[in-house]
Amino acid sequence: MSQTVTIAGWLHRLRDLNKFGFAILRDRTGLVQVVLTAEQLAQLKGLQLETVLKITGTVVKKQSKDPNANEVEVQAATVEILSPVADVLPVEINNDTIDAHLDTLIDNRVVTLRNPKQRAIFRVQAALVHGFRRYMAARGFTEVFFPVLAGAASEGGAEFFKVDYYGREATLTQSAQLYKQIMMGVYEGVYGVSYSFRAEKFATSRHLTEFNQLEFEVGFVETMDEIMDYGEGATREMLAAVVEECSAELSLLGVTLPPLGERFVRIKLKDALQTYKDGTGIDETMEPDLSPAAEKWLSTVWAPKEHGTGFVFVTHYPAAKRPFYTKLDPEDPASTLSFDLIGFGSEIVSGGFRVNRYDEQVQRLKDKGLNPDDFADYLMMHKYGIPPEGGWGMGLQRLTQNVLGLDNIKEATLFPRDVQRLRP
Ligand code: 4AD
Ligand code: MG
Repeated sequence: MSQTVTIAGWLHRLRDLNKFGFAILRDRTGLVQVVLTAEQLAQLKGLQLETVLKITGTVVKKQSKDPNANEVEVQAATVEILSPVADVLPVEINNDTIDAHLDTLIDNRVVTLRNPKQRAIFRVQAALVHGFRRYMAARGFTEVFFPVLAGAASEGGAEFFKVDYYGREATLTQSAQLYKQIMMGVYEGVYGVSYSFRAEKFATSRHLTEFNQLEFEVGFVETMDEIMDYGEGATREMLAAVVEECSAELSLLGVTLPPLGERFVRIKLKDALQTYKDGTGIDETMEPDLSPAAEKWLSTVWAPKEHGTGFVFVTHYPAAKRPFYTKLDPEDPASTLSFDLIGFGSEIVSGGFRVNRYDEQVQRLKDKGLNPDDFADYLMMHKYGIPPEGGWGMGLQRLTQNVLGLDNIKEATLFPRDVQRLRP
């Protein structure tokens, strides 16, 4: 074996042993060791790690005490400097794990993303999106792209950003909700990756001010279970895509994916609260929602043990807790045909059945204290006919965080924005 190769990448590590030395070169595929002569080491004098190099040499078997080791290294013949780096890195990125506080990690994102473990996270994120697209496209759904600048808020509350739009007030979309619903009159099934902005008041380990949602919406459904079936199928395909595309990344990160089981749990909110009480003694049965602790216990303790899955659909949230577009439960109008998917730690999805009839939607807006006149464009779809329909929005960064067991959602965000942070 004496193959000649040309490799190009970043100087990841350098060991100067005077008469010769070793460079570890990093490219998108991984690391390789290069043996350098004294002259080649002299070429690198004064240059720092992350210098971009192009090296031509021969592939040789690595010297090793272990007779079974079958690794190779490159004996450099020529070294070309493509981009010299003169400054020492602000934070060491060339160890297995970056030993730095989260803020330092993010402050120096431009270079910390180059660390093999850091970049592995976003390969997994990309695979999740591939799986989602693949699943939806295979069902004949149409991928659509949503506007980010909008007039009205869709999710209610005050958590929206205002933008000066030629002297008028615009908002950044909280969700693509209204737009994906409008598409029900066009394609019957749509999906897309949307941008959502929320003026969250506090920085938490689960909230960003800017994030993405994997959205889908499907028409002519008869039950909420059908909507959850699509969602469950998509989630399974997304995790399958991670296994197919990212086995090296998973082992580098030391991650075992959450258990999927035969079927995701589907449980009404009131039964979920009762289960939480029975299992932990903590009584939140009078609450209109699950606490973060209850979500965690249900999806990481109870469901894996009792049902072999880390995914729990919690259904039938109270009407007061869900937005105006959510359909009321005909069997109990104080409750809604809505669900959250709790994915291995916390809520990763909200979704449900939507109001599709005009009069009903006008009434729901009024009941929520909203003025139907402000929603004239949206109501046009109801007025001119949309089928019974529903869908979901899945937080991409939240999902990535939970699937990989990361402590903070910012670790699952390339360039996170929060209450304090607007850079890099
Ligand atoms: O629960 P949310 O607010 O629901 C919607 O936006 C609906 N339009 C969805 C639907 O189709 N009915 O947001 C959906 C998901 C959450 O479950 C969570 O995963 C994520 O988006 N999310 C956030 N992720 C990061 N930071 C935040 N501030 C988030 N808020 C919601
Ligand atoms: Mg929600």
